[in-house]
Amino acid sequence: MTGCFITFEGGEGAGKSTQIERLRRRLEALSQSVVVTREPGGSPDAERIRAFILEGRAKALGPFAEALLFAAARIDHIDNVIVPALRRGTHVLCDRFADSTRAYQGALGNLDGALIDSLERITLKGVKPDLTFILDLPAEVGLGRAGRRRGEGEGADRFEGEDLSFHQALRQAYLAIARAFPERCVVIHADRPAEEVEDIIWNALSERLPRLTQHAARPLDVA
Ligand SMILES: Nc1ncnc2c1ncn2[C@@H]1O[C@H](COP(=O)(O)OP(=O)(O)O)[C@@H](O)[C@H]1O
Ligand SMILES: [Mg+2]
Repeated sequence: MTGCFITFEGGEGAGKSTQIERLRRRLEALSQSVVVTREPGGSPDAERIRAFILEGRAKALGPFAEALLFAAARIDHIDNVIVPALRRGTHVLCDRFADSTRAYQGALGNLDGALIDSLERITLKGVKPDLTFILDLPAEVGLGRAGRRRGEGEGADRFEGEDLSFHQALRQAYLAIARAFPERCVVIHADRPAEEVEDIIWNALSERLPRLTQHAARPLDVA
């Protein structure tokens, strides 16, 4: 049986990393095999591209070049991490994926929607999340959390450094993606305690992908 591919999307500080870790623990408690990964990055070469992008070195090249770099990193990540895991029956929880390109470079970078569609089709080669959680909250709440997480002294990365209106538009871009792909996306209201968000995610998962939350996989199923 192949694993399920679940992605987490949303703005800075929405709680993606927090909730992925909580979900990983719950799935592992049911003896499910899980890999946690992230984008940009997730594989050694893709992490090198991540560093280049998040240091802001690609910004001057414009959103199209940035989108190509994200796509290159994504191809490596899909080929070397995501697909091998899914094939061996391991579930993949991914912190950001193609929807982030759609939101950041597409909606915010003003890249043409048809171009984003084509790039995504070529990059993903049919690999599509079974389920995408879009963690939604007011941009200022997320930025406030992200600022506290960073602590003092550490600078914001390429995207955290954009202004509030950028992050407000980002929120709307994710909500538009959720409306465009309702069969795949679930919007989670994330401006509430982490325990509550965790339960809401678990209930949504039980509805959408019951085989993950109901049964502990027997070791022999994997063979
Ligand atoms: N529901 C929540 N309420 C308050 N703070 C939260 C919540 N979820 C996460 N945090 C805190 O906010 C910060 C950002 O969360 P994180 O999971 O890193 O967000 P993201 O990965 O989406 O950027 C972290 O310090 C985290 O501990
Ligand atoms: Mg994170």
